[in-house]
Amino acid sequence: MSRKLVTLDDFTIDQTRQFPKATGQLSSLLRDIGLACKIINKQVNKAGLVDIIGQFGATNIQGEEQMKLDVYADETLINVLKRSEDCAGIASEENDDFVAFDDEYSVNSKYVVLFDPLDGSSNIDVNAPIGTIFAIYKRVTPVGQAVTAEDFLQEGSRLMAAGYVIYGSSTMMVYATRLGVNGFTLEPSIGEFCLSHPNMQVKENGKIYSLNQGNTCKFEAATTQFLDYCMEDNKDEGRPYSHRYIGSMVADLHRTLIKGGIFLYPADKKNANGKLRLLYECNPMAFIIEAAGGMASTGKERVLDVTPTELHQRVPIYIGSKNMVQKAISYIS
Ligand code: AHG
Ligand code: MN
Ligand code: MN
Repeated sequence: MSRKLVTLDDFTIDQTRQFPKATGQLSSLLRDIGLACKIINKQVNKAGLVDIIGQFGATNIQGEEQMKLDVYADETLINVLKRSEDCAGIASEENDDFVAFDDEYSVNSKYVVLFDPLDGSSNIDVNAPIGTIFAIYKRVTPVGQAVTAEDFLQEGSRLMAAGYVIYGSSTMMVYATRLGVNGFTLEPSIGEFCLSHPNMQVKENGKIYSLNQGNTCKFEAATTQFLDYCMEDNKDEGRPYSHRYIGSMVADLHRTLIKGGIFLYPADKKNANGKLRLLYECNPMAFIIEAAGGMASTGKERVLDVTPTELHQRVPIYIGSKNMVQKAISYIS
């Protein structure tokens, strides 16, 4: 059966037409992010062939070792977005501070972009899936001047769009607006992201729990009790659940979006805020999962309601199928 090919561009332009006042800037910004990710994808595919894997030697603001591909992905996104007329500035997991673009086009742009250029970078050496996560906000300061920290420290509930690209057995972009979540697979022969997963929805119930269970010795009692519940033998309720953990948030949440389940990176005895970053990882993923009918919580509040106070802030996260997230939270509170 033949079907008309819908590219990412066709799709975002169609969506824009639903809003008569839309200027098309958001679609062209998504096209630019798509372009940057296609360039990153090329390099990711070559990781086993050229001398690009391995530690770069520097450490990022979080005190973690950067891999070469992290730096490459970061620079690619910055360069593409800097040249774009639709981005006023960026903030990235790999940089200490945000970057305000000060050329005459950028200062007049409405949008800022926050990203984790390469997520799951410890998976590069073992050829497992990695990704790029992005978040798009409308600036709050007036156009015509350089953006400030205020434009980046916005609550996730104010997101205009968010998405990720997964560099896996195929390369996909999944992106969400308030209209829903759609997935596009990169067709390498034409170099276009093509609609392959329209209107993605997260199941209300799942059978998979996903976390780094090796941290059990550090977990609070509530987390351990929730894990016991997941592992308990209860055929009527479909337990024990299966445990799956790739160690790359993009890959673990892509599975959660498609198959249902819960992903958690909780607070523990050593890390009161868990590990994952609010602005570059948790907010965009929470926006996507909520737009697909799922739920994302810090254990205390909706992730999207957290007021950010600093760019590299971390929060605990429980995200995925609504009923599973609610169950996990019932142990915590
Ligand atoms: P990054 O590669 O951007 O630093 O992110 C890694 C994150 C996330 O992708 C993943 O869910 C988590 O770290 C894995 O952490 P552990 O190794 O502690 O399980
Ligand atoms: Mn990450
Ligand atoms: Mn990263």
